[in-house]
Amino acid sequence: MTDARLGHLDGPDLLHQDAIRAAVRETYGAVRPIDRRVAERFYDPDELAGLPEETVTIALGVGNPIRYAELAPGERVVDLGSGGGIDCLLAARRVGPTGQVIGIDFLPEMIARATRAAAVVGARNIRFIQAEIEALPLPDDSVDVVVSNGVPNLSPRKVRVLAEAFRVLRPGGRLAIVDLVLEHDLPPEIATHPGAWAGCLSGALSELALYKGLRRAGFGAVSIDRLGAFGVEECALYPLFSDDLLDLIRSRLSPERHGRIAQSVLVRARKPRPGESLPGRARD
Ligand SMILES: C[S@@+](CC[C@H](N)C(=O)[O-])C[C@H]1O[C@@H](n2cnc3c(N)ncnc32)[C@H](O)[C@@H]1O
Repeated sequence: MTDARLGHLDGPDLLHQDAIRAAVRETYGAVRPIDRRVAERFYDPDELAGLPEETVTIALGVGNPIRYAELAPGERVVDLGSGGGIDCLLAARRVGPTGQVIGIDFLPEMIARATRAAAVVGARNIRFIQAEIEALPLPDDSVDVVVSNGVPNLSPRKVRVLAEAFRVLRPGGRLAIVDLVLEHDLPPEIATHPGAWAGCLSGALSELALYKGLRRAGFGAVSIDRLGAFGVEECALYPLFSDDLLDLIRSRLSPERHGRIAQSVLVRARKPRPGESLPGRARD
């Protein structure tokens, strides 16, 4: 992508939505399995055991939502931005043969890779659908749990993504998302860099903006828990961050921020049942 396509600077949205979508599509369309470092950071060895090598080496999330989603046998789960399918494969183990997992991704390459992986492990309770997470091809009130790992940040329409998650959840259903939040704005050179967008940094919201977005979409009992700092060292684990981008980040951010550019957070929330009044924030 050339600099000419990188939007304008007169407001909180520095990039045109189409430029963001193009950057995300181009980057993830070109990404290839690399190594096990991202997966080994977030998943236990017993979780990774038995998964196809390609699934492990293309894990590109920023945490492990399945660890926190409390999935039960028989539940119906949707994974927004399923990528190579790692979380879908793990969710499928937990919901068992009576449950169902649906992975949504807009890239045919990712859908093909994840479908192959499900076939290799013989998981018949997973299906992958090529679609945008801003317009889920699923009926209202049709799933128990929505999970996602490092994906809503990639959308230029995050509240729309949350509203779609809310729509497809059954009343009483729940959300378990891992993503990044920012404590401080990024300098425009980083905020408009396609790699930083694809790497979940530039599209990250503040914790407050994320909370407000969840409430606006209708969710209650919202909790946003910090899982860990995300700094230059973490960025360097991903094929999305070129050496030039890492140099740009080091040169534009003060050294104290190199270890904590963003925070990885676990977002949990519930869709109220009819007549149920949930607190905005989850009670401890
Ligand atoms: C950071 S990767 C995460 C993949 C997977 N969740 C994981 O943990 O490995 C982001 C994935 O979301 C997909 N994606 C990004 N924006 C999307 C959108 N608006 N609709 C559907 N899929 C999207 C990309 O194609 C990519 O596979």
